[in-house]
Amino acid sequence: MARTITVIPGDGIGPEVTEATLRILEAAGADLEFDHRLAGVAALEQLRTPLPEETLDSIRRNRVVLKGPLTTPVGSGFRSINVALRKEFDLYANVRPARTLMPGGRYEDIDLVLIRENTEGLYVGVEHYIGMEGDPRAAAESVMIVTRFGAERIVRYAFEYAKRHGRRKVTLAHKANILKYTQGLFLEVGREVAAEYEGEIEFEDRIIDATAMALVLDPYQFDVLVMENMFGDILSDQMAGLVGGLGFAPAGNIGREAAMFEAVHGSAPDIAGKGVANPTSLLLSACMLLDHVEQAETAARIRTALERVLRAGEVRTPDSGGSATTAEFTDAVIRALD
Ligand code: NAI
Ligand code: MG
Repeated sequence: MARTITVIPGDGIGPEVTEATLRILEAAGADLEFDHRLAGVAALEQLRTPLPEETLDSIRRNRVVLKGPLTTPVGSGFRSINVALRKEFDLYANVRPARTLMPGGRYEDIDLVLIRENTEGLYVGVEHYIGMEGDPRAAAESVMIVTRFGAERIVRYAFEYAKRHGRRKVTLAHKANILKYTQGLFLEVGREVAAEYEGEIEFEDRIIDATAMALVLDPYQFDVLVMENMFGDILSDQMAGLVGGLGFAPAGNIGREAAMFEAVHGSAPDIAGKGVANPTSLLLSACMLLDHVEQAETAARIRTALERVLRAGEVRTPDSGGSATTAEFTDAVIRALD
């Protein structure tokens, strides 16, 4: 029986790249049924809430989501719908592969995966101002939360991911030399977990700033990387830069109860409705989704077709130096399917 997934097309270019992605999934014979739901501005306009209960119910039922970019409406009470969804379903692992698809970039044959802790760290948003001498905002303070539970499950996720995907090494990046308690705990727990995989998966720990430099100097020394929330946010974008930018970067947000696969770029209001958006990021996210629901063969066929089109270079969208429309690019990928 076909697996039903929740599809949230999103805002701006979201519906365009979603349509392209679903067409390719169908052409490739993915065994999926699509339960279309709204979130973001589209939901606010039609259902008067940016995160409708029926969308949440659909995700609870289906447990797997494909999501286009969402424009966060100002003054909605949510800091961001993306953050709200991650919180609601405790999507603790943010998985960001960075793989070269188009030749001629800064590097060839990059193949890295960053696993970012998605629920803790500074991004819990426990912040406040401190008033002094008549200035209510003389200072500001933010709290970094690291729990043994949170650190353990993300590092374990990284090792299990490495095992499942035939990877050789996990690098834990941290700042325990300065943040001795929070980052110290993350490193301590990480080393404990790593010890369980000794002889199976190689392990190293490195300081975050040195890791950032090493990623640019010689990315090939890395394989799977794991780190806390904010460091992961920054380095995953840096890694996307190694392979041609956010337009080529997919993402999965994984929890025990649900998994959400999304484009990492935003809703691109500057090109929305023009039919020229590049669907690659969402399509690659859909391939991660297929891996997740045990349709890895279909995912592999789509990745091969996509790579063929990008390498041939005749049909590319404007952001990657071509002049093709979203529909033309989508047709080319479908033609390139085996
Ligand atoms: P953006 O990623 O939407 O756009 C940045 C630049 O990249 C623009 O010039 C855009 O045209 C281009 N671009 C992005 N995706 C593209 C694609 N698939 N094909 C071709 N060109 C593409 O970032 P921006 O402008 O900062 O944010 C716009 C809106 O998106 C904001 O409301 C923001 O909150 C939201 N956003 C949502 C995200 C999500 O849902 N995961 C992530 C980032 C931003
Ligand atoms: Mg980010």
